[in-house]
Amino acid sequence: MITISVEDLWKSYKEKEVLKGISFSVNEGEIFSLLGPNGAGKTTTIKVLSCVSKPDRGKIEILGMKVPEECNKIRKIVGIVPQDFQGFSDLSVRENVEYFASIYEGDKSQVNGVIEELDLEEYKNTKFKKLSGGLKRRVAIACALVGNPKIVYLDEPTVGLDPKARRNVWDIMRKLKDRKLTVLLTTHYLDEAQKLSDRIAIIYSGKILRLSTPESLMKEFEKPTLEEAYLALLESIGEE
Ligand SMILES: Nc1ncnc2c1ncn2[C@@H]1O[C@H](COP(=O)(O)OP(=O)(O)OP(=O)(O)O)[C@@H](O)[C@H]1O
Ligand SMILES: [Mg+2]
Repeated sequence: MITISVEDLWKSYKEKEVLKGISFSVNEGEIFSLLGPNGAGKTTTIKVLSCVSKPDRGKIEILGMKVPEECNKIRKIVGIVPQDFQGFSDLSVRENVEYFASIYEGDKSQVNGVIEELDLEEYKNTKFKKLSGGLKRRVAIACALVGNPKIVYLDEPTVGLDPKARRNVWDIMRKLKDRKLTVLLTTHYLDEAQKLSDRIAIIYSGKILRLSTPESLMKEFEKPTLEEAYLALLESIGEE
């Protein structure tokens, strides 16, 4: 079943055209990664798909609901871990998660479950500002999951995490996939994308350069890793 369908999405900020007609679809239970250089348009895509900003044009549907027309309904079934998530610094972990539960109109009974799932019990009464970077990312994920979403957008969820904390986040993503949630991921860590992604879209300058699987891109460029294949792809189009 297709959960995210994007056809010919265009988006500009003032004079700058950021997305220039991108199209892709994501299936239920898939981990789909948007890859590409800084400024390519990954976060902009996520913002449109999660109803944070409006597309200029394009046909976009989330579980059959139209963006932006049905954003009120869509917001209730998507969870977002923004690239720049900032929790409420003076609220505890628990209070932050409760806050997001109330936005989603979720029942508070999910708060405990999510805190447990993300291994945050020990910190539930700790103020957000006192947490390490890795714990803050975990709280961000907890806040995205507390509404019981069907689709989760994770925008660079493992930036700055130590290797163990990164693996924890990978495990969480795999668990979400097992539960048939759709995960849309962006990351610059291509080892991570290679391990986790069912499919990838490489965005370059607002256009999709390749829609593929890690394996077929590696095969196409005869490289042993996704990172090397990705670099070979960029080189092939003249990117330094
Ligand atoms: N609110 C905004 N106003 C003006 N320009 C913006 C705005 N948001 C993004 N842009 C521009 O749109 C382009 C794409 O930005 P976007 O954040 O989508 O890139 P990205 O692929 O997520 O990059 P990164 O890997 O660095 O996170 C950039 O040139 C950026 O400067
Ligand atoms: Mg970004």
